[in-house]
Amino acid sequence: MVSCRVIPWLHLFIVALDYALRKAVNTNDGLTLRRRQSSRHPAVVLPDLDFADDICLFEDTIRAAQDFLHRVESATQEIGLFLNASKTMVMHINPPVDPQVLKARDGTVIEQVSDFKYLGSFSNTAYDVSHRIGLAWGASHSLRKVWKAPIQNATKIKVFRSSVESILLYGSDSWSLTKTLCKKLDGNYTRLLRTTLNVDWKSHTTNTQLYNGLPRITRVIRDRRLALAGHVMRHDEMAGRVLLWRPDDKRRRGRPSLTLKRVIEEDVGLQDGDLLSVMRDRAAWRNFIVSPEG
Ligand SMILES: *[C@@H]1O[C@H](CO)[C@@H](O)[C@H](O)[C@H]1NC(C)=O
Ligand SMILES: *[C@@H]1O[C@H](CO)[C@@H](O)[C@H](O)[C@H]1NC(C)=O
Ligand SMILES: *[C@@H]1O[C@H](CO)[C@@H](O)[C@H](O)[C@H]1NC(C)=O
Repeated sequence: MVSCRVIPWLHLFIVALDYALRKAVNTNDGLTLRRRQSSRHPAVVLPDLDFADDICLFEDTIRAAQDFLHRVESATQEIGLFLNASKTMVMHINPPVDPQVLKARDGTVIEQVSDFKYLGSFSNTAYDVSHRIGLAWGASHSLRKVWKAPIQNATKIKVFRSSVESILLYGSDSWSLTKTLCKKLDGNYTRLLRTTLNVDWKSHTTNTQLYNGLPRITRVIRDRRLALAGHVMRHDEMAGRVLLWRPDDKRRRGRPSLTLKRVIEEDVGLQDGDLLSVMRDRAAWRNFIVSPEG
């Protein structure tokens, strides 16, 4: 949205931006995470997520989003910052049949996208998984001299896990993995391991020998997902609500999308109230996490 490259000023910049955003946000701005039930249980809304100068604004409707965007533009302009419309994008969840366009104050149309990169990850899990697999293979190729070198397997595995595996797993704690994606991940991880240990296709090495006690990568991801989910749930009420949020699928055709909530429910075989109470109990939740250090 707005960018600042001079590091010493970054902190000041964030303070200023935060001030402008606070001025721009109205009480009813935001994506509804829970509808208003009564005066004692008001609606819970999420207006924005900010990380330094990476800002996401949320609204339930396009009209409200348009208005919100203009208010943010005005408020930031007052402190001498400007919104670069060509670096701003709009994305719909549950797209309406005829989505209206969103415009900046000067009339520039904001580009509509079906996905975008935020803090290094794409919001669409399938796309992000393919992207990470590609990056992991890139890292593996650049280390091919190491894999060919006369080094102990144990050392290679250490290098592999801290480089290739960590590249593959970046952002994986929030993936909503389908069975197909799990297969893709495990399949590629096995091939990456073969490359690391120079195991030829023709050799009769079994996966048990190849893995030699290493957990399946989807197992590692599951444990990380549960560890993060428990942490989020216990430490921040709003983040907990986002974690278990389910889009309103009623007006949408086709199969409901797989949410992180569903994945977590399947991981542990618990739902709703039971799930919540176990998640809030650190010791109980740990029982579901098999390989804590992943
Ligand atoms: C806005 O961002 C685009 C794309 O990065 C850049 O080319 C352009 O110069 C920017 N506009 C201004 C006024 O800085
Ligand atoms: C590895 O990932 C690629 C790209 O996502 C996919 O096309 C391929 O089928 C996967 N390979 C295996 C063995 O699962
Ligand atoms: C390294 O691991 C592979 C795969 O399990 C095995 O075939 C190979 O013999 C091992 N090499 C050494 C030196 O242990």
